[in-house]
Amino acid sequence: MKDTLLKIKAEALSAITQDGADLEALRIRYLGKKGELTAVLRGMGKLSAEERPVIGQIANEVREAIENELVQRAQVQKAAELDRRLAAEKIDVTVPGTEIAVGHIHPLDRVQRDMEEIFIGMGFDIVEGPEVEYDYYNFQALNIPPDHPARDTQDTFYITDNILLRSQTSPVQARTMEKRKPPIRIISPGRVYRSDAMDATHSPLFHQMEGLVVDKNVTMGDLKGTLEMFAKKMFGEDTKVRFRPHHFPFTEPSAEVDVSCFACGGKGCRLCKGEGWIEILGAGMVHPNVLRICGIDPEEYSGFAFGMGIERVTMLKYHIDDIRHLYENDIRFLAQF
Ligand code: DAH
Repeated sequence: MKDTLLKIKAEALSAITQDGADLEALRIRYLGKKGELTAVLRGMGKLSAEERPVIGQIANEVREAIENELVQRAQVQKAAELDRRLAAEKIDVTVPGTEIAVGHIHPLDRVQRDMEEIFIGMGFDIVEGPEVEYDYYNFQALNIPPDHPARDTQDTFYITDNILLRSQTSPVQARTMEKRKPPIRIISPGRVYRSDAMDATHSPLFHQMEGLVVDKNVTMGDLKGTLEMFAKKMFGEDTKVRFRPHHFPFTEPSAEVDVSCFACGGKGCRLCKGEGWIEILGAGMVHPNVLRICGIDPEEYSGFAFGMGIERVTMLKYHIDDIRHLYENDIRFLAQF
């Protein structure tokens, strides 16, 4: 019986230490309920009282030896498996990655945000107004009564007799003055609508930015200084500003404002059409009628206002020759910014 036990031990250990041995199968084969060792132990009943403890001890040693070998081999196999996986899954961190194409801000938005930053830096707040507007705010509160000829210059989309798509951001001036007490210092960017046919420089939907300052003793000099600062920040430190007399119903005096051409420095080029100057906005001192209509006493307060087209500034800045590029979202165009 002792020989049988030692034979089982020798066989089991050699089987277990074989490369890639199926350890679970071997455990069942030698130590399982129907295993070889168990079968031998069943026969112990027939042994004599002296033999039994001797054989019992050998049997225990054999089981322990097999169990230990199983545990050790399991660890060896696990480590080998890990080594194999690590070798197979080796990552080369020096391989260049796949480039992901990220989008970016639309040029029109870029310019609007730059403009906002400049005015915020000068203490202006951003205010928004509705695109579907009353005739009252778009015209009447801005000193443009019904039948006023200035209405013809802006081909307005009417929704009803007194509701329209705003043709300018100027109505936000009136809305703000109604609601706030001076000092007022706001800009208001947003969409405006005009019933114009689409061509290289016109679009029925475009964007403007309005500006309004109302306080005691606000002068034309403040308007000039503000616009000069804006022009330098927007188009470069050497930019100069020029006011030309003009007429708007809601300002008196009114001006059209030009900046010195930032492409040629004023010598005359294709961008400024040889003029050396580029028109960028309309401005003026808020008309006393407008202040009065909006509940502000023109004897106590004065103000200036300006309005400019964001598309126009964008096209000038980036030398874009057709406004439609800004709306078509052709990736080949957008990717250039
Ligand atoms: N609203 C005018 C337009 O659309 C632009 C404008 C001119 C706005 C003079 C102003 C201003 O605030 O003072 O043509």
